[in-house]
Amino acid sequence: MRTSGPALRQWASHHAIHNAAWHEASDALAAAEKAHQLSDSEAFSRIVEVFLEVVDIRILIHAREEESDLYQEWLEAQLMSSAEMNALIQDHDTLRQLTADIEQAMIAGREQEVMSRMHRLLDRGASHSQHEEAILRRSTEGRRVER
Ligand SMILES: [Fe+2]
Ligand SMILES: [Fe+2]
Repeated sequence: MRTSGPALRQWASHHAIHNAAWHEASDALAAAEKAHQLSDSEAFSRIVEVFLEVVDIRILIHAREEESDLYQEWLEAQLMSSAEMNALIQDHDTLRQLTADIEQAMIAGREQEVMSRMHRLLDRGASHSQHEEAILRRSTEGRRVER
């Protein structure tokens, strides 16, 4: 049974979802860096909360939807190999781990570490999105891969 909608199955709409998430998270990171420069820890923690909300709603829930059936569908349609699927799931796990690291570093008050993990999350997210979008292009072009 499909639990994810048609938006994930088309390049343009899936790309738009990735793009919106990246821009919102990246705006929050820029604002957090500004608050850090101004030594405004109160603003910093508010902004990081927003960042974590964006990550949760736009990235981690999105990742769960993909894992619940989209990836299986791509595998069966030979749009990706099982090695590619494992790599994509590994990216999701890294995004989850980085989110937990940010939460921990926030509790410990380590702002520098929070920001470096935020950067890593955005970079890993961007390369992951590119990979998925390449698979969606294969789908549009009707290309298949070796299993
Ligand atoms: Fe994903
Ligand atoms: Fe995605």
